[in-house]
Amino acid sequence: MSHVFHRDLGDTLPRAVGGDGPYLIDSEGKRYLDGSGGPGVSCLGHSHPTVIRALKTQAETLAYAWTGFFTNEPMESLADLLVELAPASMTHALFVSSGSEAVEAALKLSRQYFVERGEPARTRFISRRSSYHGNTLGALGVSGHTMRRDPYAPLLAATIFIPSCYPYRGQRKDETPEQYGARAAEELEHAVVSAGPHTVAAFIAETIGGATSGAVVPAPGYFRSIRSICDRYGILLILDEVLCGMGRTGTFFAFEQEGVAPDIVTIAKGLGAGYQPISAIVVSDHIVEAVRRGSGKLRHGQTYMGHMVACATGLAVVRAILDEDLLAKVGRMGDALEERLTNAFGDHPQVGEIRGRGLLWALELVRDRATKAPFDRTHQLHARVRREALRAGLLCYPGGGTADGESGDHVLLAPPYNLEESHLDELVEKLGLALGRALHGLL
Ligand SMILES: Cc1ncc(COP(=O)(O)O)c(C=O)c1O
Repeated sequence: MSHVFHRDLGDTLPRAVGGDGPYLIDSEGKRYLDGSGGPGVSCLGHSHPTVIRALKTQAETLAYAWTGFFTNEPMESLADLLVELAPASMTHALFVSSGSEAVEAALKLSRQYFVERGEPARTRFISRRSSYHGNTLGALGVSGHTMRRDPYAPLLAATIFIPSCYPYRGQRKDETPEQYGARAAEELEHAVVSAGPHTVAAFIAETIGGATSGAVVPAPGYFRSIRSICDRYGILLILDEVLCGMGRTGTFFAFEQEGVAPDIVTIAKGLGAGYQPISAIVVSDHIVEAVRRGSGKLRHGQTYMGHMVACATGLAVVRAILDEDLLAKVGRMGDALEERLTNAFGDHPQVGEIRGRGLLWALELVRDRATKAPFDRTHQLHARVRREALRAGLLCYPGGGTADGESGDHVLLAPPYNLEESHLDELVEKLGLALGRALHGLL
């Protein structure tokens, strides 16, 4: 009997023992094509030589010196590089260990900013329904996904939720995508006005929807309207790129393609690429200056922040993305994946929408394409797809509650940036097999 408190106490999982490029290998020697980098993590595959070397070298040199006593070279260099890649308005980075911790840091820094500025009444956060920002209490508090929130609801801080920008289900037939984007953004303005603008600290959103909504790409102009509403009412804009950042959509930050810059961005999964747990927030200068002019001290801290081995690994990951020209490759392979998904599933009666950008794609699964009706949630279709994909030797990231936080299913794909076209063929073929088996007996 295993003494690990596993995620599913009724499940017997294969044991992972090796990695080879985009494949994971279990103790029986079975190879799994990693079509999702686990939950959107392993953007360089599982055996990247320069990342592994950087990690080992740093561990051999020095692993840990508390940031209360020392700064360190990998942390300084990684901050320099991220700031260089960010818009000119963003000048500082802070490193923690997970996506949830990055979101916690962003929320707390937003609050500190307003305290420093003498606006202590700004205590409220606005977020979107169906969103996911992490599992610690603060991050879960601003997450809109009902299924993940429900058991903890009494413990979560009150957050104002607005509808997400979800063209597949939200855009009316008589609207253009731009008109829908403007209407979806107006929801923020209504929420701010009804809460009282002087009580709102920040609006938080995933630039491209991820784990709970399935690669939802915002309507054109949506984030430009959101940015101007935030500016109008003096509210900070936090973009959560824990899953969609780090080049996943073809630009280093996903927001670059939306023509906006946030006040704070969170990044995580692709930063450590699975080789180390590391996450970051990159912060605008006006926030840093408010702290400098005020208390002069960041009021948030954690033991392992700025960990040297994690930062050295993150630095090697970012350098690999740049040196190997992987942003361009994400664009090319993303087009190739879209084409293959469209050919394989474009006419599939249970695939309601194929959506995404770069190498972040999802299929939204429906019982009826015409009405967009989801499957009964008791079928747990997403769990069936995950199980069948695993059996077929494919790792993908299915999720439930896509349509409204409770019902609906999608399958998320986020393969490594350095895979080849033959891997895309294998991915789509195995996904077709898994989907067919998962749907068997449900229709
Ligand atoms: C957008 C987003 N934010 C935050 C998180 C939480 O990250 P972690 O699981 O590393 O705490 C996730 C994880 O899926 C995510 O997708």
